[in-house]
Amino acid sequence: MSVAPRQIGLSAPWLDEREEELVVEVLRSGRLSLGPWIDRFEEEFAAAVGAPYAAAVSSGTAGLHLLCVAAGIGPGDEVITSPYSFVASANCAVYQGAVPVFADIDPRTLNLDPAAVEAAVTPRTKAIVAVDIFGYPSELDELQAIARSHGLALIDDACEALGARYRRRLLGAQGQDAVFAFYPNKQITTGEGGVVTTASEETWRLLKSLRNQGRADDGGWLDHARLGFNYRLDDIRAAIGIGQLEKLDRILAGRTEVAARYTGLLAGVEGLGLPCPNDADHERSWFVYVVELPAQADREAVISELGAHGIGTARYLPCIHLQSYMRERYGFTEGLCPVAEEKSRRTLALPFHARLAPADQAFVADTLRQAIA
Ligand SMILES: Cc1ncc(COP(=O)(O)O)c(C=O)c1O
Repeated sequence: MSVAPRQIGLSAPWLDEREEELVVEVLRSGRLSLGPWIDRFEEEFAAAVGAPYAAAVSSGTAGLHLLCVAAGIGPGDEVITSPYSFVASANCAVYQGAVPVFADIDPRTLNLDPAAVEAAVTPRTKAIVAVDIFGYPSELDELQAIARSHGLALIDDACEALGARYRRRLLGAQGQDAVFAFYPNKQITTGEGGVVTTASEETWRLLKSLRNQGRADDGGWLDHARLGFNYRLDDIRAAIGIGQLEKLDRILAGRTEVAARYTGLLAGVEGLGLPCPNDADHERSWFVYVVELPAQADREAVISELGAHGIGTARYLPCIHLQSYMRERYGFTEGLCPVAEEKSRRTLALPFHARLAPADQAFVADTLRQAIA
């Protein structure tokens, strides 16, 4: 009998009987959308992060787009954001006809460098979209000060950072509007889905109208007060989200433990860069475990070697400004953000999730060490 080769996937959600039970409850209720599970999920999510208000949406991208609409971003405006992110953090401004302006990142945290943001502000700048990349919180106070001094909106793309803390407070409870996402590789999943948190009741009401075709909360089903979208989350997904929130602490603790184990296993690998550690102001929520390969390593060779051993990896993250559609639309080229471009050539995500077995981690670490050597 042949033994199937070991396969270690990049990520895996933590779902069990609890989500199944809650989904069955929704199905049996017959109310699959615009039902009571949405309110319950929003209340529980807001409580989990300490946000005054939460609005559930169909994806993180939808949440970012709605915050751009709410900020009044339109054609001709500029929105400063990070080149080292997932495309949605820039696309949300493009959907509104605005021009994305990429400021370079800090080589240690991989988040926006506030000095580069300040230097990128022009009279046309309307907003900053900060991204807490790989779950590490951005320099929110410094960015907020820049935003305030120029009259800009600050949107926190916390899609990868549920559970992260900046200056000891959870993201979502920092004051500025923030977006969280629940694709299955995230800390919690609803399949697809997202939540926007805000400290403003007015913004919250606007978001709930915008996600629901612009309906006003005091109007009838066919009364539309503004141009809106169908960015609703449905009750089945909300129920999955409730099940996920019940085990959020266990998920986050599991991810922290798995990350610490990788750090221990990989600490001695010559020239390998590891994710930056927490400090007094920044506490990461582990989303992915991304290493920086030594300068002389051939990343493609490392990827195929790991792949040959059944180990999944991903080239996190390509620079957004160098994606073909961005080059074509705006004429961006290499050299615009040298720090992000250099990191982007060398960083690599390893298999990572809350229940990754220690033996699998040891196998990943050994294989990676050999591939680099
Ligand atoms: C930084 C960042 N922003 C935005 C998003 C978009 O979230 P979604 O895939 O739910 O639209 C993601 C998720 O992949 C992300 O990682």
